Amino acid sequence: GDVRRLIAGNWKMNGLEDDLAEVTTLAQRLETPRPDNVDVVICPPATLIAPMHALQFDTIGLGAQDCHTEESGAYTGDLSAAMLRDAGACYCIVGHSERRDYHGETDEVVKAKLAAALKADLIPILCVGENLETREAGKAVDTVVAQLKAAFPGAGKGVVVAYEPIWAIGTGKTAGPAEIEEMHAALRQATSPDTRLLYGGSVKPGNAAEILAVSNVNGALVGGASLKADDFEPIVRA
Ligand code: G3H
Repeated sequence: GDVRRLIAGNWKMNGLEDDLAEVTTLAQRLETPRPDNVDVVICPPATLIAPMHALQFDTIGLGAQDCHTEESGAYTGDLSAAMLRDAGACYCIVGHSERRDYHGETDEVVKAKLAAALKADLIPILCVGENLETREAGKAVDTVVAQLKAAFPGAGKGVVVAYEPIWAIGTGKTAGPAEIEEMHAALRQATSPDTRLLYGGSVKPGNAAEILAVSNVNGALVGGASLKADDFEPIVRA
């Protein structure tokens, strides 16, 4: 379709200040030839958002990896969506499986975070995905669609959805094209024709073209392979 593509890199808890050099290299390489049919976003650790923003890249947008549900208050260690926006983020990942697993985030919390991100003018990237047990039980599509519906707002305008099968994250395994196609068709039906639907889970230079060619896949959410310009640039160009 004509949904604008998005390739987002999630650095997770990787990247110290030295990695400003890596993102600068990436930005320079994306200048020529400049891919004009795709948005490129890096979600670094929150401490790097402001310094990256100060570098004023034209080719790379910035995102946060999480935000709090509330606008301000006694929440030691947390960051509000407005603070992240203020630091220079335009996007915010919500509901990543690592947040759901390690921080006990429920669908209800994820829904509130998504609303907080929208309220602060951040574009939410809502992550959904099934574990291996659910996949093997043949319940992946129903489970993921239910997870989506639990957090996706009525109109959902401007919300990006990332399908990340948990068993494919950081494992080197990816869902097959048929599995991705089936899931993305269901997600398309549950969202809208202009919702950007990303695939995530062990996307690498070697498999990106095949994955991005699957119908209703409008981009990718890339973890490990987003840390090096040598890996991330070919994924963007795919
Ligand atoms: O947010 C990104 C995903 O968790 C994918 O991570 O590409 O390292 O498998 P990965």
